[in-house]
Amino acid sequence: MSFSLPLVSSIREIPYGDRKRINDAALGREGLVDMASGNPDLPMPPFIRQRLMDALQDGCARYTSYYGLIELREGIARRLLERRGLVVDPERELLVTHGVQEALYIVMRALLGPGDEVLIPSPHYASYSLNAVACGAASILVPLEEADGFIPDMERLERAITPRTRVLALTVPSNPLGVVWPKEILEALADLAIRRNLAVLADEIYSDFVFGESPISMGTLPGMKERTFTFNGFSKSFMMMGLRMGYVAGPEESMKAIKNLHYCVTLCPTSLSQAAALAALECPEEQVQPIVKEYLQRLDMLYQGVMSLPGVTCVRPGGTFYVFPSMKHFGMGSLELAIRLVEEAGVLTLPGTEFGPYGEGYLRLSTCTDRSSMKTGLQRLREFAEMHQ
Ligand SMILES: Cc1ncc(COP(=O)(O)O)c(C=O)c1O
Repeated sequence: MSFSLPLVSSIREIPYGDRKRINDAALGREGLVDMASGNPDLPMPPFIRQRLMDALQDGCARYTSYYGLIELREGIARRLLERRGLVVDPERELLVTHGVQEALYIVMRALLGPGDEVLIPSPHYASYSLNAVACGAASILVPLEEADGFIPDMERLERAITPRTRVLALTVPSNPLGVVWPKEILEALADLAIRRNLAVLADEIYSDFVFGESPISMGTLPGMKERTFTFNGFSKSFMMMGLRMGYVAGPEESMKAIKNLHYCVTLCPTSLSQAAALAALECPEEQVQPIVKEYLQRLDMLYQGVMSLPGVTCVRPGGTFYVFPSMKHFGMGSLELAIRLVEEAGVLTLPGTEFGPYGEGYLRLSTCTDRSSMKTGLQRLREFAEMHQ
């Protein structure tokens, strides 16, 4: 007897992207330089490591508060105030999650129903549109142009809004673009969200990795706290990617429901990771600042290296681990180029199309590998570019 298991179409339709084709091309190839990864290579600071080992020794393994240990939420609220100027009630407006990734999913799941729309300046972090698919919602991608420095065209953005648009999703500083939008643009986006009654998802996971001052947090702008969900976490700031510690701050009424959904998904955040997150909040700056400095120096190196490649153009990054150079002059699609770079140059990159169709013609390169490998990777890109001039 044949039978088929149920699978709802919104979940069946979540696309996997092209990474598999690149990974297949990379399979078994020795000596590849990985310039694709968003998984930084430096180790977690020793202070946090020690406290994590202590927590393990103490047998820290019980369920915790569903929403994250209250002392951790209090510490995060203090950090949000000190670093981002955001006033957050740790009991009512804050939730500790399994990375920003969980937070993005549960917030979008709570805000978007079938037929609703999420407005996304794009190229964008793919999870926003993947989550939209999972919600049965539509992503309205609004192109960001290299010629504008990847800064949104406000009129274009506004024209894309329909009566079904509920949410505006932003990453500042941006993955994959590396850019930091100026304050006037963030203010214009806030004005748009208020006028058109949109909730704002402000993904600030890279806020510690900027050359100048950190960009203003959207939720601190007048009238924005009641419609903004601010996402941040420990993955990038403390090299704790695998410990899966993120958080989201948002308006109390919505957060009540979102906390219930979080309970359905994960019950509570991991106890050991929360011990590490508590340590991170107390970690001596001497162990954190060199990490930030190193990635920013590498980012500058990467940008300079990319700019010196024949035919390549690139918007100067304001922060993050990424640059997003245009490779259009090679005359091939991003995916084909990324595969050929694996096969012919021994360099792993991410095609811009991993970040939506407006990424066509671009690659995302990252600083998540050590300096010497990065230099080798740049040299190989140069040889490839010279051969294909
Ligand atoms: C823009 C952005 N948001 C969210 C995430 C996920 O972060 P986390 O490790 O906290 O789940 C990433 C990871 O690369 C990211 O680049």
